[in-house]
Amino acid sequence: MIIDKLSILVIHGPNLNLLGKREPDIYGALTLNEVNNKMMSKAEKLGIEVAFVQSNYEGVIVDAIQQAEGSYDCIIINAAALTHYSIAIRDALAAVSVPAIEVHLSNIYKREQFRHISVISAVVYGQISGFGVDSYLLALEAAARIVGSEK
Ligand code: DQA
Repeated sequence: MIIDKLSILVIHGPNLNLLGKREPDIYGALTLNEVNNKMMSKAEKLGIEVAFVQSNYEGVIVDAIQQAEGSYDCIIINAAALTHYSIAIRDALAAVSVPAIEVHLSNIYKREQFRHISVISAVVYGQISGFGVDSYLLALEAAARIVGSEK
């Protein structure tokens, strides 16, 4: 019997390419490559496949979400600042049947008022916020559980 590996798409939004140098007291000292490498090791242990996209452009993220349909079992998304106002990303997540997990390195509810609103949280499976790089690793575990049980 051949069992397909779960396949997860990780989407990183604007300014996350600057991780490591960008406000390290808030976002940590790891670069985006280091975060992705940690996710790859965790994915290997969980027996799942993982692919990564980072973009500073809303439309590129909308395209990535649309193209995930039929290609990935789950999306893990840190939409960064777009979390707080992008109805286009919300609509794209609602339009596909792929479940999504929303991730934030920082606890957005402990920060400025404008970060307390996520326009995408109502259309994702769940949100993990405030655990630094572990937010992504916990999201991988959650993805393996929510879609693993369906495969
Ligand atoms: C972030 C939180 C957002 O408010 C911010 O705009 C980001 C990163 C986080 O991971 O903590 O760019 O999504």
